[in-house]
Amino acid sequence: MVQRSTLTISPAEGESWRKASGGRENSLAVRPLNIGPLVVDPPILQAPMAGFTNYAYRQVVREYGGVGLQATEMVNARGFVWLDEHEAQHPDRLWGIGDEPRPLAVQIWDNDPETMAKVGRRLVEEYRVSVVDINFGCPVKQVTQRAHSGSYLLRHPERMHAIIGRVVEACAPTPVTAKIRLGCTRKTANAREVAQVVEEAGAAALTVHGRTAEDYFKGSADWEKIAEIKDSLVDIPLIGNGDLDSAEKVVFAFQNYRVDGVMIARAALGRPWLFAQAAAALRGEEIPADPSLDEQKACLLRHYALVVERFGVQQGTHLMRKFACCYAQGKRGARLFRSQVARVESPDEFYGVVEETFPKD
Ligand SMILES: Cc1cc2nc3c(=O)[nH]c(=O)nc-3n(C[C@H](O)[C@H](O)[C@H](O)COP(=O)(O)O)c2cc1C
Repeated sequence: MVQRSTLTISPAEGESWRKASGGRENSLAVRPLNIGPLVVDPPILQAPMAGFTNYAYRQVVREYGGVGLQATEMVNARGFVWLDEHEAQHPDRLWGIGDEPRPLAVQIWDNDPETMAKVGRRLVEEYRVSVVDINFGCPVKQVTQRAHSGSYLLRHPERMHAIIGRVVEACAPTPVTAKIRLGCTRKTANAREVAQVVEEAGAAALTVHGRTAEDYFKGSADWEKIAEIKDSLVDIPLIGNGDLDSAEKVVFAFQNYRVDGVMIARAALGRPWLFAQAAAALRGEEIPADPSLDEQKACLLRHYALVVERFGVQQGTHLMRKFACCYAQGKRGARLFRSQVARVESPDEFYGVVEETFPKD
């Protein structure tokens, strides 16, 4: 059965909202989000995405603005400790965070409370991160079946309690947050129970992706279920996540689903200006138009320069293939661009393909 999207607004509704809200007072009264002592303003978060939300991407997003809290890719706690002890190195995914503007959340995953606490403490003391986020949502087999972590732990709320409790203790006063899915399967969805456990263990906020682990990315995020979780929380904010791909949908989520904040992932990969559009909408301002295609192309090239700065020419060029595809997504001529950019090997090839085949209208 095809899951009905609970977060659908028609283009006409979006357009009428856009007109009605232009330049007026914000009737939504969306407030900044408090994550412990941290004020997240606007209450729009950039999601952690393994393989994507690296230093370069975070920098591009920051340049457009509109994001209240950014996150790294998830970092494995055991791997962190092992690297430290054996090679005196730090995880690659933490590259650049020392000098990066704050606020910044680092997400960690694993299932051993002591290891997680040790890593949390390091992140706070050494890296001075603003938030330590714990992943209880990853559905990937390597994480769930092999490492009994991520969304696997949703079946073990008592273990989640132990992990969160120890990390909170180790990181205080820096806030610790948790990111979950609705459950492991639709039948065993237990997010409401889990939410209570998360709060009781001392977390400062809860983010919920409105799918189960079994859903992976299929169907639509269930925002009605996200809204129900609000009743399980006493003091900590609820951050909703899933399928937000326009400023209008962000407004719709705040208006209809009782969330204190929202988190955006995939839609902003090739549209890093989406956060700024959503933030303007929440302020009751007219939503800024998408940048022109020339500006989008310039943004893609800026992103490429940052990726090369971070990963070097060869790895950076390879890595940029997937980002470049995101920038073209949904545009006329995207297929041709994708097929060409997926093969680039050098900066010259990359610039050539972008110049010749990046969508022009
Ligand atoms: C490629 C990819 C990598 C992801 N990596 C992470 C991750 O490291 N940690 C995490 O909590 N969620 C991760 N997610 C899930 C997203 O943070 C988010 O919950 C999900 O994509 C739904 O939001 P969206 O509909 O806005 O994309 C990842 C998703 C994708 C597509």
